[in-house]
Amino acid sequence: MSIAPIRKAVLLCAGEGSRLRPLTFSRPKHLLPVAGKPLLGWALESLAAVGVEQVAVVVGHRPEAIHRYVGDGSAWELSVCYRTQDKPLGLGHAVKAAADFIDGEEFLLYLGDNLLECGLADLVSAFREEPAAATLYVKEVEDPRAYGVAVTEGDRVVALEEKPAEPRSNLAVVGAYAFSPAILDAIAHTPPSARGEYEITDAIQALVNRGDLVRACVVQGFWEDAGRPAELLKANRLYLDRLEGQVLGTCDEQTTLEGVVRVGRGTRLTNCHLHGPCLIAENCVLVDSEIGPYASIDSGCEITDSRVENCIIQQDSRLSHMRGGLSDSVLGQQVEVSGPSEGSFAPMRLLLGDMSAMRAV
Ligand code: DAU
Repeated sequence: MSIAPIRKAVLLCAGEGSRLRPLTFSRPKHLLPVAGKPLLGWALESLAAVGVEQVAVVVGHRPEAIHRYVGDGSAWELSVCYRTQDKPLGLGHAVKAAADFIDGEEFLLYLGDNLLECGLADLVSAFREEPAAATLYVKEVEDPRAYGVAVTEGDRVVALEEKPAEPRSNLAVVGAYAFSPAILDAIAHTPPSARGEYEITDAIQALVNRGDLVRACVVQGFWEDAGRPAELLKANRLYLDRLEGQVLGTCDEQTTLEGVVRVGRGTRLTNCHLHGPCLIAENCVLVDSEIGPYASIDSGCEITDSRVENCIIQQDSRLSHMRGGLSDSVLGQQVEVSGPSEGSFAPMRLLLGDMSAMRAV
């Protein structure tokens, strides 16, 4: 028997992404790429895959870039509208900004920086299985102090706390929820937390307090909250591990490819060694370089005489003479990094925002 989809979703993309600065000074974090696709692209795909039809994207910081990328949502066969949250006053506050869109219906809430390997199908099934005011995805983690934490009895949530110093369980609340419209009333009656935010976690606790059913569903596969550079790189590795190889660009005779590699159309490789998994997008020029494992290089990049491993390098960036190796790094768009043209160069780890330049003298 097929499961009835949840028609509406609220996708949260406001928030300043301060933990990803300087990358987020010029763009919202939701447009940062993981395995060649913006976080937001992965999120919209997950929503479309479970039959969502309408999405309200809640924007705040630099909304124009999100409008440009998502448009009316037709690229995902979704109907997308936008709601603005003037200040990032918390997830409850952001949901309230979409109250007119929700309009008394059930909906999915998805945090735009979360990545889920197995998508949202289990969440929707669990919500359909037993009518609840809220069904939450949860995942056991070693240290849950950076998350909402759920205490459960069977699959029933009996208590929740946001970022507790002394967690009462190891079950982190994942950034995907299925809600009945009752959550809006709970948000309206929930005061801001000690850190001054209208927490969705506190609003869900209010549902629990008044005796409503709140259920937990354990996420299968990986879950990443790509809120920090190390998490962005980890998510990139997880997706690259699932990459399918395909070479559409051109490689000269000196170039060798090892493991799973994906090379986009119009990309030229001369005397390079690629260790998979790695992803080189379209129209790049790579010369005398060793790339990978775990490198994601966006379109239009030029890399010469360099070694690159475990990096995300965004569009139109240029790297030269980095023989000592660039690793564990995230570079923005149109970044220029050059080591000395003679001799060796120390290995580097860099976090550079769009249009940064770094040149050895
Ligand atoms: O990733 C799961 C965690 O997400 C949960 O365990 C926590 O309970 C939940 O509060 C949330 O915690 P974070 O600290 O990771 O939330 P963050 O501030 O990163 O915001 C999550 C997303 O929501 C992000 O895409 C930005 C957006 N957002 C955030 C705030 C504070 C908004 O749209 N408006 C806001 O006011």
